Amino acid sequence: MPKVPAYSITTDAIATEAERAGGDVENIDISNVLKLDELELREMGPDDVHMRILAVSCEHNIQHAATADTINIADVRGGRVFPGNSALGEVLAVGERVTKFKAGDVVITHCNGGPDKYGFPTRIWAYDAEDSVGWYGKESVVGAWQLIHAPLECGLNLWEIAALPLRAPTAYHMWRRALGIYRIKVPRERQGTLNVMGFGGGVSELFLMNAIAEGHNAYFCSGSPARRDALEKLGIQGIDQKAFNRFASRDDVKAFSKEVKKVTGGEGMHLVCDMLRGPVFEAGLQAAARMGVNVSSGWQLSQVVQYNTTVMSVKQVTIDHTHYETVEGCEAATELYGRVYKPTIHEEVYAWEDLPRAHHEMHLNVQTGIPIARVADDMPAAVKGLIP
Ligand SMILES: NC(=O)c1ccc[n+]([C@@H]2O[C@H](COP(=O)([O-])OP(=O)(O)OC[C@H]3O[C@@H](n4cnc5c(N)ncnc54)[C@H](OP(=O)(O)O)[C@@H]3O)[C@@H](O)[C@H]2O)c1
Repeated sequence: MPKVPAYSITTDAIATEAERAGGDVENIDISNVLKLDELELREMGPDDVHMRILAVSCEHNIQHAATADTINIADVRGGRVFPGNSALGEVLAVGERVTKFKAGDVVITHCNGGPDKYGFPTRIWAYDAEDSVGWYGKESVVGAWQLIHAPLECGLNLWEIAALPLRAPTAYHMWRRALGIYRIKVPRERQGTLNVMGFGGGVSELFLMNAIAEGHNAYFCSGSPARRDALEKLGIQGIDQKAFNRFASRDDVKAFSKEVKKVTGGEGMHLVCDMLRGPVFEAGLQAAARMGVNVSSGWQLSQVVQYNTTVMSVKQVTIDHTHYETVEGCEAATELYGRVYKPTIHEEVYAWEDLPRAHHEMHLNVQTGIPIARVADDMPAAVKGLIP
């Protein structure tokens, strides 16, 4: 199989940039770590699909890989990873046993890197799954089990579809978990309409879209005016996180808690989507209503959180940590593209060459929506009408 251009992250690049940044994760310039490389595609197996990549979105695990802020995954994987676990592609060829796809189909990926006996991933593709090669490349050979037909008729444009392969299944999974846990405790006849809150970020935004689609009240606590505005247009009420100094002190958390009581008529939030970015966890717990559920799938940089077990047990609050959807759940989440999920896209669609800069700007938290990079110049006829 040929060699194709693809981005990689190496332990050497991580070490050099960490030294330049003086060991401070905030100072790391990810565009110095995510570098254009060459990838030799593996031989096609009977269950494989050969595809060319049309567009990709920026995901946080690339940032975790480049900054090595949680674990140094490039090191664990032998010194180099080819990242990228959210992509939209066109099928070029299929192995002899593949019946679900044919050349010319437009597909999206999921990143369940190997299900456990319940269907949940033990590993994530292009991150910690053994031998997994990501989709920040011009072409890829991948098992057909890892692809889903792109819902080209869903009403979203191409960049919006490309924003969802990783974030939508994450949000879908968190939504069904949080709601399911809450409903074990409080049946519908006791509390029909729920107050649902998410902190800033693409996954939270989609979680809140699940909430409004089912008739609940939704609140988006974000520091980004552009992203709050976009959600307000859908009927999701904004709360300015910076008005509470991103919860820098106990007084800020207390003031936020008071605001939550005010906007919810004294009740608090029944469901909180807490991606654990920055110091939001304490504020998320304070915001919880009695019987509330706090669901997260992010990683604290310290990987450790603290809470008062007495207060949480008296309030009957459940704290739930999730990872990523089952393969079936990823298919189900894809059915909601356009009907429920209407993602906000960053104003610039990045060129392939600018993917490292897209990641650097994501790290700086200056984007107005989910960042997308266009990988293919020449788009197939099937998607040309979807390019805004
Ligand atoms: N387990 C999984 O399967 C899984 C899947 C997807 C994501 N995740 C994790 O979940 C987290 C969020 O992912 P995402 O895709 O939603 O991210 P995203 O779309 O890039 O959004 C990240 C958000 O974090 C907020 N933020 C940044 N710095 C902050 C700070 N210092 N304090 C408070 N908030 C801050 C920003 O919100 P503002 O609007 O307030 O600025 C930003 O919009 C990441 O850690 C990611 O690794 C896990």
